[in-house]
Amino acid sequence: MDADAPQPEPRPLILDVDTGIDDMIALLIAATSPELNLRGVTCVAGNVEIHHVARNTGKILRMVGRGDVPVSIGAARPLQRRLRTAPDTHGPTGTGYVELRGEDRQLGTTEYTAIPASRYLGAHINRHPGEMSVVSLGPLTNLAAASQNGVDLAGATRDVIWMGGTLEERGNTTETGEWNACVDPEAAEICLRAGAIHHLFPLDATQDIIFSMEDFGALPDTHLAGIVRDALRFYVGFHQQADGIDGAYLHDPVVVIASLLRPDLVTETVSETLACDTSSDPHLAGSLYRAENDDRPAVNVATAIDAEGMRAELIARLVRAVSAPGS
Ligand code: BDR
Ligand code: CA
Repeated sequence: MDADAPQPEPRPLILDVDTGIDDMIALLIAATSPELNLRGVTCVAGNVEIHHVARNTGKILRMVGRGDVPVSIGAARPLQRRLRTAPDTHGPTGTGYVELRGEDRQLGTTEYTAIPASRYLGAHINRHPGEMSVVSLGPLTNLAAASQNGVDLAGATRDVIWMGGTLEERGNTTETGEWNACVDPEAAEICLRAGAIHHLFPLDATQDIIFSMEDFGALPDTHLAGIVRDALRFYVGFHQQADGIDGAYLHDPVVVIASLLRPDLVTETVSETLACDTSSDPHLAGSLYRAENDDRPAVNVATAIDAEGMRAELIARLVRAVSAPGS
């Protein structure tokens, strides 16, 4: 690489999260990767209730010196359904064996913005037409609300990326349903119908890589690395029980890396016209299906990832994030 060659401008990004253990890893990587310009983070209820999501998100950003990133608090519940959370997967407050409770003066304050997430997304996207990447790592409630408020997610962004759904892989919530889609199926359907999702990373892609506790042995001996390790121990314990695997799927950081930082690690994509089941049948709601004879826009779906390349990239970026001074 030519060290004197001009580097491209960091890519402007808004992350939408329901922090959550794998969201936490995604946040750490997005906030510390020099190729990215994290302009804001919007919070949505999902893995845990919205107050846990907001507090975890603010605190994680501060731990890597990114208290400057505005955090906007979004939907406290799905558009039409009761909120379900996943304490068995992510722990009672979203960070496994760790609880990021209490104030820590040394960490300073987070810029919580008074503007709710759907309006925050709209204001930012409209101010920078065609420039923003939006990556959603949770239920699509905030994005659907923005779309319903007239925000042109499809046309006015650079791209919108979602971790959600499953095509051929068995679901992780119902037989055919993935968590983010199952928490708010109506929101997923609104976004898919509007063509608001350009790139989809379902379980078919994110479950190509199992991260083991041995992989995290590469983390340094810092305070933040200890927090991350404790959270991941919980997550691995859950996956051992629920999926019988010796490790865990890190869906959300895999998507941040594969979509924004190392698209070369995506080894297979398909174009699909997709819809989300919104029926009252709990076994079906949240399942994605191919919407035959529908004129909705197609979605670019990643279905396979280079597992060893992703493992090396994710661990290297996580090591850097938790090694930052003060962490
Ligand atoms: C998705 O569901 C959540 O539990 C994770 O944070 C991830 O976004 C995986 O199905
Ligand atoms: Ca998530």
